[in-house]
Amino acid sequence: PLISMRQLLDHAAEHSYGLPAFNVNNMEQVKAIMEAANEVNSPVIMQASAGARKYAGSHFLRHLIAAAIEDYPHIPVVMHQDHGTSPAICQRSIQLGFSSVMMDGSLMADGKTPASYDYNVDVTRRTVEFAHACGVSVEGELGVLGSLETGQAGEEDGVGAEGILSHAQMLTDPQEAVDFVNATGIDALAVAIGTSHGAYKFTRPPTGDILDIERIAKIVELLPNTHIVLHGSSSVPQDWLSIINEFGGDIPETYGVPIDEIVKAIRYGVRKVNIDTDLRLAATGAIRRSLAEHKGNFDPRKYLTESIKAMKAVCIDRYEAFGSAGQA
Ligand code: G3H
Ligand code: 13P
Ligand code: NA
Ligand code: ZN
Repeated sequence: PLISMRQLLDHAAEHSYGLPAFNVNNMEQVKAIMEAANEVNSPVIMQASAGARKYAGSHFLRHLIAAAIEDYPHIPVVMHQDHGTSPAICQRSIQLGFSSVMMDGSLMADGKTPASYDYNVDVTRRTVEFAHACGVSVEGELGVLGSLETGQAGEEDGVGAEGILSHAQMLTDPQEAVDFVNATGIDALAVAIGTSHGAYKFTRPPTGDILDIERIAKIVELLPNTHIVLHGSSSVPQDWLSIINEFGGDIPETYGVPIDEIVKAIRYGVRKVNIDTDLRLAATGAIRRSLAEHKGNFDPRKYLTESIKAMKAVCIDRYEAFGSAGQA
């Protein structure tokens, strides 16, 4: 069934587990996520970014997720709109049937310019007002995602601050988080602790100075009734980077958020863990390898099936590591 984020994250909090929230753009990703969830009996969060809505269109995305719910009626599914840049965009997604929306007021409506605290409160509070009237959950964000090594947002097109950010901007202040939640009434809060979108998060395996997991404990302690969300949480699997490069790709050395650190964050109380890049890397590696090994093949179903298998394996790993396996 389709459920709201609040329902699912309340269950996760009660049973002390975390959920991967996978970005979806096409049927293969939806199938991989659902086949994996079915195999390990995990609830599911699928989310559509602005880039996904531009690529596939909201109608296709909504119907792909609806098809998944028809195929797997026993699995709870949240259909979430990722990184909405205005209340109007969130309202449109609610009309289309999304059960959860993110109003990302950490950036202005251009998705690039860091916003003031007051702007963020204003757009987020207005979104909560109409979303809650429809039984839809709202995720807000306080703090701007960016690398503590470089002061830059990630590589993704479409989302991410422009220019160089200060450490203060890139680290959510726990006391300000309390004020923000009280002023807006959000169900879930995305925090900035040094993660960023895309494959180029860290130039070395991260340590506490560039990935501030401990900050989560302080925030959770002050916000017992709000679910904490981590964006930019791909682990950037080194084995998939090697396969991509072995079969004609060219991706430089780079590191993501280690699974152990995410598990620690979940122990501190993080409930939603956003993952897009890891499925992109797995799909790309699998397709590159399949095309290289079957040079005569021109049937897309052959290499796309390999991409589904690769993404499914990543999903199973995350459901198991985060503790959502067995919770559907
Ligand atoms: O929010 C970040 C996701 O990785 C979405 O990226 O806009 O390229 O789909 P995208
Ligand atoms: P990654 O780029 O680390 O997968 O993060 C995705 C994300 O935060 C989507 O909102
Ligand atoms: Na989101
Ligand atoms: Zn994000």
